[in-house]
Amino acid sequence: MNKIRAAITGVGGYVPDYVLTNKELETMVETSDEWITSRTGIKERRILKGENKGVSVMGIEAVKDMLAKSKVDPKEIDCVIFATITPDLTFPATANIVATAVGAVNAFSFDVAAACSGFIYALTTGASFIQSGMYKKVIVIGGDKMSAILDYTDRTTCIIFGDGAGCVLLEPTTEEVGVMDAILKSDGSGETYLNLKAGGSRLPASHETIDKRLHYVYQEGAAVYKFAVTNMADVAAQLAERNHLTAETISWLVPHQANKRIIDATASRVGIDESKVMMNIERYGNTTAGTIPLLLWDYEKRLKKGDNLLIAAFGGGFTWGAVYVKWAYNPN
Ligand code: UT7
Repeated sequence: MNKIRAAITGVGGYVPDYVLTNKELETMVETSDEWITSRTGIKERRILKGENKGVSVMGIEAVKDMLAKSKVDPKEIDCVIFATITPDLTFPATANIVATAVGAVNAFSFDVAAACSGFIYALTTGASFIQSGMYKKVIVIGGDKMSAILDYTDRTTCIIFGDGAGCVLLEPTTEEVGVMDAILKSDGSGETYLNLKAGGSRLPASHETIDKRLHYVYQEGAAVYKFAVTNMADVAAQLAERNHLTAETISWLVPHQANKRIIDATASRVGIDESKVMMNIERYGNTTAGTIPLLLWDYEKRLKKGDNLLIAAFGGGFTWGAVYVKWAYNPN
C-alpha cells in the first residue's frame, strides 16, 4: 500500500484594508522611507483597525476564503490549528473561536505558539495527523495582529511588522505530492533577544509593567539578524540536500518575510534565482505566523502540480525550520 501523505488542497488569505505606509511611519517615529526600504525591503504593511477585533477576525476571513474556493463543507473538518503569538485571549484558544465561527462544528482545535515559525510547526503537526490516518481534513492557519503588541514610539520594531492571516487545507493522498519532509528546530536561549516580557505567568500585568512598556515586542534586531541569516539558510540547505533538491529542481523558495536581506541570503545559499523566490514583504511587512500562508495565497495561481516548494522560517524562541512540499494541484 502506498504511503499516505498530507496534500495541501486549498489556500485562503486575508489582509486588513488599512495600509500603513513608510511615509506615514515617518510622521510617527524618526525614520525614513529610504532607511526602511534599504534595510528591510518593506514599503507598507496592513493594520487591523477597529474596537474588539482580534486576530480571529483575520483567521475567520482566511478560512472562509479557502472553504469557498475549495467547496468543502465545514462540518467535514476534523481539526483546526491556529499558529499565532497574538491570540484573541490568553485562553480559550483562538482556533476554538475560528472553528465555531466558520461552522467547523465537528472539529477539535488548538493554537500553536512558535512566533514566526508557527505556521511551519503547525503545518507539520497537521500533516502528521493526516499521515497517521487519524484525520482526513485539517485546516492550518497562520496569522498575527502584530499591531496589538507593537510600540509605535519604538522605531526599531514598529516599522517591521504588520497584520494578516492565511490558511491551508490538508487532505490525504497516496500520490507523490504533499508535505514530503521537514526539519524543525528551537533554542530557548534566544529568549534574551526577542520577547514580550509581561502579561504571562512570570510577570502578570500591573501598573508597573504598563508604565515600563513591557507589553510590547522587544527585539535586539542586529543579534536576531545574525541568528536568522545563518540558521534559516542552513536549515533550508540541509533539507534540500537530504531530499536531493537542487537549484534546478526547486520550483519555489518560500521564505519567512522578516527582512529582504535575510531572504536574499537564504536564496543565495541554496543557489536559487530571485525569480523563483516568493516575496510580498514590500506590501505586508512581517506578519509573523502569517507570512508563509500569505505567500502561498498570493502565488497560488502560479503554482502547478508537482512543483517543489522549499519553505523556510526563523523567529522568536528561537524557532526555525524548513518544510519540503510538493504542490498537489494546478490553478483553476
Ligand atoms: O521575524 C522574526 C525575527 N526577526 C528578524 O528576523 C529581524 C532581524 N533583524 C533585522 O531585520 C534588522 O536587524 C532590523 C531591520 C531590525 C534593523 O536593521 P539593522 O541593519 O540591523 O540596524 P541596527 O539595529 O544595527 O541599527 C543601525 C542604525 C542604528 O543607529 P546607530 O546606532 O548606528 O546610530 C539604529 O538606531 O539604524 C538605526 N535605526 C533606524 N534608523 C532609522 C534603527 N531603526 C531605525 C529606523 N529608522 N526605523
